[in-house]
Amino acid sequence: MPKHVIFAAPFFLDATVRFIRGACDLPGVDLTVVSQDPLDKLPADIRDRIAGHWRIEDALDSAQLVAAATELGQRFGPASHYIATLEQLQVPLAMAREALGIEGLSVEAARNFRDKARMKTVLRDAGVPCARHALTGDRSEATAFAERVGYPLVVKPPAGAGGKATYRIDNDAQLAELLDRHGPEPDRPTLFEEFVHGTEYSFDSVFCNDRLVWHSISRYMPSPLEVLENPWIQWCVLLPRDISGEEFDPIRQAGEQAVRELGLVTGLTHMEWFRLADGSIAVSEVGARPPGAQITSLLSYAHDVDFYKAWPHLMVFDEFPVPPRRFAAGAAYIRGQGRGTVRHVHGLADAQQRFGEIVVEARLPREGAAPSDSYEGDGYVIVRHPDTAVVENALTEIVRTIRVELA
Ligand SMILES: Nc1ncnc2c1ncn2[C@@H]1O[C@H](COP(=O)(O)OP(=O)(O)OP(=O)(O)O)[C@@H](O)[C@H]1O
Ligand SMILES: [Mg+2]
Repeated sequence: MPKHVIFAAPFFLDATVRFIRGACDLPGVDLTVVSQDPLDKLPADIRDRIAGHWRIEDALDSAQLVAAATELGQRFGPASHYIATLEQLQVPLAMAREALGIEGLSVEAARNFRDKARMKTVLRDAGVPCARHALTGDRSEATAFAERVGYPLVVKPPAGAGGKATYRIDNDAQLAELLDRHGPEPDRPTLFEEFVHGTEYSFDSVFCNDRLVWHSISRYMPSPLEVLENPWIQWCVLLPRDISGEEFDPIRQAGEQAVRELGLVTGLTHMEWFRLADGSIAVSEVGARPPGAQITSLLSYAHDVDFYKAWPHLMVFDEFPVPPRRFAAGAAYIRGQGRGTVRHVHGLADAQQRFGEIVVEARLPREGAAPSDSYEGDGYVIVRHPDTAVVENALTEIVRTIRVELA
């Protein structure tokens, strides 16, 4: 009897489609898909390989996720796994799994990962270093927090993603302005955090039956918040080839502890953390899902392994053959400058001539496209090489050379 595995995805975004395609390769599995998007939005090669599809109106509604699984279960047997990569799906899907009696991340754990205030409380209580925070809808509490921890502060929605509505606040006047503009309101609290000064990194890890079996570290150049604050900056992410140095021991220890405290048993997680000037670290946040922003592709290139296949395999079979890190890899995110739509991409030929040999994947902005408001920009170039310095230099030079003109 094949296993029945359901993949839930509201929309067939590029990265989601790659994971669904990876899941199509699972041996002995009938893969079905639950989505808001219609089936014909899936690429034909996937349509041909999935066993079934069920469309729902709202994938964030756990009752609809349950109903879809029940329908599909009548044709393919009760599902053994119900998986999704989307951050916003983690809680409703955990609720659906619980209702259906399917194993996976618990509702409690999913809430720990989704609610940043709750996450920080769990982590601080466990002694994992992280910024002090206050979740409040009350003006005087917000002001008291500012007095206690001092400026700058970071304000964000408690369950945000993509750095949306995340700001740095430098003084009383900015705090007052923010509070005047939008709340906080008692029923819509805002998360206030002490600002962590440091270099931002990710710590991506695989847990298998409560055991950390693998991890990766990447450096953000610069932090996503700085990229959002400065429209001229084109972001880069660097995966050094060698991450065995003792400078990473503190995050290895804190990262493993953090994921365990939050309650993940099996899965691939994406954590963000800071290294402070004095060498100490602070964990920023963790997602109970594979990394976005092309980082899953970077992991694949650095290890010569397809992580879009490795993730569904891990989730369904509790197995992760640990791959050696053979390369350094990095992404330069190309971002439109100015106002309007994409007019022209300058510097491509130059960049191609200098770094074309180590480029393994690229997506360039389309002429006429509207620019994105994300730190991921409007396109990317991925490079890899055995020597980390070569990759770091290429990233720095690529974002210096390529300029996307908007008009
Ligand atoms: N306490 C903090 N101190 C300094 N910078 C911070 C702090 N919290 C967040 N940031 C900056 O803001 C960015 C976005 O914050 P956060 O990661 O919490 O939001 P998000 O919406 O989950 O983002 P994403 O989905 O892009 O990871 C971080 O990557 C970091 O650069
Ligand atoms: Mg983040």
